[in-house]
Amino acid sequence: MEKAVIGIIGCGNIARDQHLRNAFSNPRIRVKWCADLLDENLEYVKQHYAYENVTKNYMDVLDDPEVQGVLVLTVHDVREKIVREAAERGKHIYVEKPMSTTIRESYDIMKIIQQNNVKFVVGYNRRCAPIVKDAKRILDEHCEEKVGKWRFVRNDRVTKIPEEDVTMMLIRINDDSASFKMYAFDEFKGQGSIMCEFGHFFDLACYMIGKEPVKIYAEGWARCNASVTVQFEDGSICTVFDASCGSFDHPKELIEIYKGGMSMQLDHYLQLRVGGRADVEKINYPFAVDAYPEVTEGEGTNLYINKMRARNKAVTKANVLARSEVDKGHYAMLDDFVECILTDAPSPCDAVAGSRATLMCLKAIQSVRLGLPVKISRDEYDFVIS
Ligand SMILES: NC(=O)c1ccc[n+]([C@@H]2O[C@H](COP(=O)([O-])OP(=O)(O)OC[C@H]3O[C@@H](n4cnc5c(N)ncnc54)[C@H](O)[C@@H]3O)[C@@H](O)[C@H]2O)c1
Repeated sequence: MEKAVIGIIGCGNIARDQHLRNAFSNPRIRVKWCADLLDENLEYVKQHYAYENVTKNYMDVLDDPEVQGVLVLTVHDVREKIVREAAERGKHIYVEKPMSTTIRESYDIMKIIQQNNVKFVVGYNRRCAPIVKDAKRILDEHCEEKVGKWRFVRNDRVTKIPEEDVTMMLIRINDDSASFKMYAFDEFKGQGSIMCEFGHFFDLACYMIGKEPVKIYAEGWARCNASVTVQFEDGSICTVFDASCGSFDHPKELIEIYKGGMSMQLDHYLQLRVGGRADVEKINYPFAVDAYPEVTEGEGTNLYINKMRARNKAVTKANVLARSEVDKGHYAMLDDFVECILTDAPSPCDAVAGSRATLMCLKAIQSVRLGLPVKISRDEYDFVIS
């Protein structure tokens, strides 16, 4: 089997939680290098994986002609330089989100990618989650013929009003700020949860609705706890409600989508429920990692809650934390990156999408601090590069 040779730069939290495991277990990947500044992270790699080379100097990775692609998994403020140096050496790049934190940085990164003609994937992995792929397919093929024959339609309805054609979306995040690393709150590093977390959901809303965002309005705080409403060019609306004062005992992400007589709930990547359609009602998805396989009572998020209860009992007794994880698309997005490298496939989330999500985060921060709605224009993220 043909393998893509990759190097991993940054072996911190997200690398440990996802990318190291996913890269080392992917039969189409050969991980040749792992780089980090911290001994403890390199030690972790040595202990857990069949590593080839570890280094504190990421230039070792970039200067290796055999390396075809790199995963840049550092935090926001040290990313652009690495992206630039990687692109200049012709390496394909998977970069963790957010791709950038300023409009200038978005422009510079897009320019580097374009000039060096390398593949570029921004880690807005929710797009690649199995449940999202199913929901996107169902949403895209949804039309009046697909609506269940039982739909209550008044006899005197001879015409539709334009508002009935839009997509309405609600994304609820139940988060716990105690789990955030401190850099996330730092005004000039992580820039708060709007920059760190909301980008995922802005990107997802644009991807699902497939229209241009035109206006954004936010209430709450940039650092954590906010509710943000995005309006799209066709009048579609998505509200992202992020409660950072919640508990992981309950599922984190609930995505609801409504369109033309159909309702869909994507319940924490475990259960897709569809109303109003004759051809699909419910799909269950397996856990990506199941630390409590003996707990089988319930399905979807009820099963999740039961597994969390088992975890809570185990932690209370033995102080050992084993987590079950849902499939948010990290493995599939990395696999798509491999596809880009090996077959020249298009990026599952390119630099324009990364730039758009950054702009939406910046505008949401502006709105939350102004207390006013803020306009979004395409020329602020989809740049002409001369
Ligand atoms: N997609 C997701 O679901 C998801 C989830 C969490 C975090 N993230 C993103 O991942 C990124 C990293 O977050 P994290 O929590 O893993 O941070 P982290 O601080 O735990 O890890 C970053 C690592 O990069 C290393 N690093 C920094 N500069 C380096 C350099 N010059 N050379 C080599 N290594 C260097 C650091 O030593 C550190 O270990 C953030 O941008 C965050 O937004 C994404």
